[in-house]
Amino acid sequence: MVGGGGREHTLVRSLQASPARPRVICAPGNAGIAQDVTCFPVAADDVAGLVALAQREKVGFVVVGPEVPLALGLADQLIAAGIPVYGPKAAGARLEASKIFTKEILMKHKIPTAAAGIFSDVEPALAYVRRRGAPIVIKADGLAAGKGVVVAQTLGEAETAVREMLGGRFGDSSRRILIEDCLTGEETSILVVVAGRDYVILPTSQDHKRIGDGDTGPNTGGMGTYSPAEVVTPELLVRIENEIVRPSVHAIAAEGLDYCGTLFIGIMLTPTGPSVIEYNARFGDPETQVVLPRLATDLLALLWAAAQRQLAGWKLEVKPAHALCVVVAAKGYPDKFPKGDAIAIPASLPAGVTVFHAGTARNAAGQLVTNGGRVLGVTAHAPTLRQAADAAYVACDAIQCASKYYRRDIGAKQLNRTKP
Ligand code: AMP
Ligand code: GLY
Repeated sequence: MVGGGGREHTLVRSLQASPARPRVICAPGNAGIAQDVTCFPVAADDVAGLVALAQREKVGFVVVGPEVPLALGLADQLIAAGIPVYGPKAAGARLEASKIFTKEILMKHKIPTAAAGIFSDVEPALAYVRRRGAPIVIKADGLAAGKGVVVAQTLGEAETAVREMLGGRFGDSSRRILIEDCLTGEETSILVVVAGRDYVILPTSQDHKRIGDGDTGPNTGGMGTYSPAEVVTPELLVRIENEIVRPSVHAIAAEGLDYCGTLFIGIMLTPTGPSVIEYNARFGDPETQVVLPRLATDLLALLWAAAQRQLAGWKLEVKPAHALCVVVAAKGYPDKFPKGDAIAIPASLPAGVTVFHAGTARNAAGQLVTNGGRVLGVTAHAPTLRQAADAAYVACDAIQCASKYYRRDIGAKQLNRTKP
């Protein structure tokens, strides 16, 4: 397993639960993953180091969590070394690494997405923004650690974002920008296991991207999730499969990307239908924390089948329970936040609660401490979403950490929709 966040902790747990009883190792991992499996101190972006580690440890299968090593060609290098891998090659990871590349594929294959212009010079970009009016969305083309999107409510904000990005705010990543119409509606995350033209759609989920309650404040990597996302009714899911998932998988195959890995499709459920916001070339974080625990299917068998291009005819088995994950972050995230604060997780937590580790480490004294912006993913599994939310929040309240911060309203949209 490559990576060291909450997503990877969840993947490690699910892979370990396989009846095949694999020996799982992880690089670089975190303090929680290290309690479950052996971790090796090789950074997730050290492609050569990871390939060498896989060879040294005689690894038979690599599952890649984050996008950066994929964009750097980790899958290409592993395949060249004869090691099977779940995760796309660099050509496929471009679907996440370049928003312009993706927008061009979406438009070429007539997959629903917001109208957009592509710019590398300030004056034409400003003229376009003024012509379209606010609200409007400005996106850096390349990877920007989740910070490359500005949903501008006013022309002033939009013009500032254009100037900053084209002025080099994200270096090469914002040498070119996308300016796209602002979509309205609820978002949903659709994770799809893809092997060439075959695919398996995983259970639906909804993320909470803003830092503050009521979806306020800056965007983050994701502050909490729940699954299933009931806003995606069975009828809507059929429509999403027909209008977005199948056309996307076939378009990607037609473009010759030879994709094997998770295609994470961020979708806006607009008043006129589902529309693609983005593709990611990996599992979502914290979507994974609620999606994988709901699978009755052996995850290792599923990902291995994808890597072997034997996905046709796969039937997924899903548990009926609801899952909800509250991300415990370090106060200050997504800007500046402290590291090294002690964390105490009570030994007894409510039934159905699992604490996945994200930014955690051990200090010199062996104490569990914070080591990143998103620290823990407190996940509960219960027959109803209300019960899952209640259990997760009891656990969040009981966890001790001086700098802990979490949203209070994860799941609220769905809970408020559901009649008591
Ligand atoms: P992305 O990095 O593309 O996922 O964008 C981050 C977030 O910005 C998304 O999750 C949406 O909440 C928001 N966003 C992106 N594109 C649009 C759009 N065209 N209209 C409205 N919101 C958007
Ligand atoms: N939670 C959103 C993402 O993984 O990109």
